[in-house]
Amino acid sequence: MGCSPHVSLMLIILAFTLVIQALVCLGQPGTWQLLLENAGIASMHTAVTHYGTVVFLDRTDIGASQINLPNGECRNDPNDAVLTHDCTAHSVEFTPGPNTVRPLRIQTDTWCSSGAFRADGTLVQTGGDADGAQMIRYFAPCAPGGTCDWVEDAQTHLQVRRWYASNQLLADGTVLIVGGQGVFSYEFVPPQQSGAQVSLPFLQATLKAPGDEDNLYPFVHMLPNGNLFIFARRDSILLDVSSGAVLQNYPTMPGTEARNYPATGSSVMLPLDSANGFTTATILVCGGGNENAFSNPQAQLPASSTCGLLEATATNPQWTMLNMPFQRTMGDMLLLPDGRTLLINGAQSGSAGWGLASNPTLNPVAFNPVDSSFEVQAATTIPRVYHSTAVLLPDTRVLVAGSNTHEFYTFTQPFPTELRVEAFSPQYIDDSFNSQRPTVMVAPAAVGYGQNFTLTVAVPAPQGAFQLRLSNAPYTTHSFAQGQRQLVLPIYEVVITGPNQYTIFSSGPPNTNLAPSAYYMLFPVQNGIPGTATWVQIS
Ligand SMILES: *[C@@H]1O[C@H](CO)[C@@H](O)[C@H](O)[C@H]1NC(C)=O
Repeated sequence: MGCSPHVSLMLIILAFTLVIQALVCLGQPGTWQLLLENAGIASMHTAVTHYGTVVFLDRTDIGASQINLPNGECRNDPNDAVLTHDCTAHSVEFTPGPNTVRPLRIQTDTWCSSGAFRADGTLVQTGGDADGAQMIRYFAPCAPGGTCDWVEDAQTHLQVRRWYASNQLLADGTVLIVGGQGVFSYEFVPPQQSGAQVSLPFLQATLKAPGDEDNLYPFVHMLPNGNLFIFARRDSILLDVSSGAVLQNYPTMPGTEARNYPATGSSVMLPLDSANGFTTATILVCGGGNENAFSNPQAQLPASSTCGLLEATATNPQWTMLNMPFQRTMGDMLLLPDGRTLLINGAQSGSAGWGLASNPTLNPVAFNPVDSSFEVQAATTIPRVYHSTAVLLPDTRVLVAGSNTHEFYTFTQPFPTELRVEAFSPQYIDDSFNSQRPTVMVAPAAVGYGQNFTLTVAVPAPQGAFQLRLSNAPYTTHSFAQGQRQLVLPIYEVVITGPNQYTIFSSGPPNTNLAPSAYYMLFPVQNGIPGTATWVQIS
């Protein structure tokens, strides 16, 4: 029939639209990639192991997932309110690259649980709901293709039921578990000799009302002196965890919104920097919700559009408030290997809870601590609201999984149970930066405290200074990456040791307060462009 004028016109319009779209994309950095259409479960808790695999966890009493347990196994739980004979998995191991999942066996309910990796790389996962509320579970990871699985501790249990608690690996290698619904205390795994939980009245003082707390999943950050910064609702304290003493009450964060679950903002401790001797720790808290958002979901009240910055180690700490480009509740915050903080996922109205939010925030935003600026990133098309997660991968991408605004696996609009796994690639991954991107050639497997080491990288055409950034792997759930920390290591010297090859002289973190013994991702960075990390055990 030939090419009719109509078809030509349509082609011109199509081309024009594509150009416009490309221009819009140029204005919004970063790209999105769908990695897996169906992970089998909607991950509510996500963590990257030092084998580069990613643990996804859901909950056991949510009905059948979409992936079966191995070998036709089933789990019988006469007390399960939904499915007493369940042959599906509620945890999987995801392997980036092939983008495959392997079902894992979890026995008790991990719903709204907490976690942290200990020194040997084992994920210590604690609490949850129902039969899981006092459970301690271990996942000792293995290389992709292995058969490692969850082990639930039959002997030792948490002192009390902990639902919506936050964990932090301490300098002595124990895991601290802070709070939980109706629980105003903290405890340790393994338990201290006294075995007791330690009272923390701050968690009660920041309570709004039972069932409408706005102070759950407290933001816990270990400062360079080993003391804990704990933020709940709008208030924060400095806790000496060894004595139980509250050393400092910080000023209340300005604003009327609440920052913790269910209002659900997020928080990071900005990277600790050798340039100032690792002495300065600045806390960033972003987003959250209106105090009535949870109790009055019909109103779909606007989420918070502000962040607060607090130099927690200053002599007279004060909050500096910043305006974000978007309102955001249930956003995740991740420390990127270029030194910026990514805000990703969430919604612009409502709060956490089943179907209590709307107007998803599809654009991530990158916060630059150098000038406190925000840069809007390219949008995804997949809403990530209640029970969604994000983690940083060693290859510098951000993995996004989960979202289930219904209590069970249902796939009705507007926000279905979300089984798709995506990756967000910040702009630094663009091919145009390949000539500047460092590739690790020779790396240590382990680095001691204060011990000198070298890292040899290849860079085709370096254009600026090198940096080494050390990031741990947090346990991400309910918009808070528990235990997340990043250190900028010192660089003494960079020596050319071959064609396009550079050997960087550095040293490990000075002490365990700065970086508790664990596996860390060591990112080489050149002129702000990070390369794939190498895992090092800091010990
Ligand atoms: C590490 O290297 C730096 C720079 O060469 C040097 O000043 C320092 O003494 C070394 N430290 C140790 C523990 O060897």
